[in-house]
Amino acid sequence: MTTDTTGTAARDGEPRRGGPADSPFVRACRREPGPHTPVWFMRQAGRSLPEYRDIRANVPMLDSCRRPELVREITLQPVRRHGVDAAILFSDIVVPVAAAGVDLDIVPGTGPVVAEPVRTAADVARINPIGRDEVSYVDEAVRLLVAELGDTPLIGFAGAPFTLASYLVEGGPSRTHAKTKALMYGDPDLWHALCARLAEVTLAFLRVQVDAGVSAVQLFDSWAGALSEADYRRYVLPHSAHVLAGLADAGVPRIHFGVGTAELLGAMGEAGADVVGVDWRTPLDVATRRIGPDRAVQGNLDPAVLLAPWPVVEAEVRRILDEGRATPGHVFNLGHGVLPETDPEVLTRVVALVHELSARPAA
Ligand code: CP3
Repeated sequence: MTTDTTGTAARDGEPRRGGPADSPFVRACRREPGPHTPVWFMRQAGRSLPEYRDIRANVPMLDSCRRPELVREITLQPVRRHGVDAAILFSDIVVPVAAAGVDLDIVPGTGPVVAEPVRTAADVARINPIGRDEVSYVDEAVRLLVAELGDTPLIGFAGAPFTLASYLVEGGPSRTHAKTKALMYGDPDLWHALCARLAEVTLAFLRVQVDAGVSAVQLFDSWAGALSEADYRRYVLPHSAHVLAGLADAGVPRIHFGVGTAELLGAMGEAGADVVGVDWRTPLDVATRRIGPDRAVQGNLDPAVLLAPWPVVEAEVRRILDEGRATPGHVFNLGHGVLPETDPEVLTRVVALVHELSARPAA
């Protein structure tokens, strides 16, 4: 077996064994059998880890995303500690938007805050295209990580146009997305122009990560669940589809995730995903009936369950693995990100339990 880390090239027409492209995670994304159900956690790099809090103590969030050595270290922390099946690049969905010239900050305890929310066509026109030069720190961090991770895949990511637009129009996090919807319904042309711009920024950001060597990408449309299916299809799907189609030739699985998306799961798959992320509200066997047999699923333990006594966690992990057996491919994850108050030891135990319960004898 060769240890070539690209894992994608073929010698004498034979796919190479080993490398991240042959990892349990990438195999599950492709709906191929593997040695066990792979597991990683959204927000696995972050405030649940004391080593993260230490290293971030005096560094603002956006600064930390622009320092490749720091990104490398923070991305590796959960891989070392938990033995997860994939690393996810430490960054944030607003990093490419800031690189495109939007004046914003990530405020601790609040999230992204935009200095001048988008209201007009002139505001949209000020969102510049980006390329490798504007996010060279991301290119560099991915290259450092890919060299160090060996057979462990690195997941790249970006925010989808709707979720990014929501931050830009609201000026910060919102429960109702009222200003966003007011723009969407009130000025559809401006809405589509904004989303088309953001789709280009997102696609370029993901391309930089793919070119630097990530093994999969996840498009986060965290707040898409605020929309009806009809409005999602009309106002959002074409823009997310543009991003996902732009990566069709990249040779890496595309994961598409949102929260509260029970009614949107089919449409989110149709947007061009290989894997659809499912939150804890929809059992995976039900989700897969909505998504269809041609896509894998990712999820879906309620992050709050990790705060419960261990027997509750164990029972939920077993249930989700059982429901996952009814799907064409299952990547174990949470239904949303790790809560900061989570005991990291519980995360480590969940990884071991998923591996143990799902272990399949070698073919
Ligand atoms: O998953 C990972 O481990 C990789 C890192 C990652 C971060 N943000 C780091 C981060 C990823 C994948 C994201 C994506 C992201 N950012 C999303 C989509 C995922 C989701 O949660 O739905 C969204 C909506 C954002 C916007 C954002 N950035 C929020 C809501 C917050 C939290 C604000 C807070 O302090 O509670 C951030 C900041 C942020 N991004 C932190 C981290 C680790 C916390 C910053 C800190 O440590 O001070």
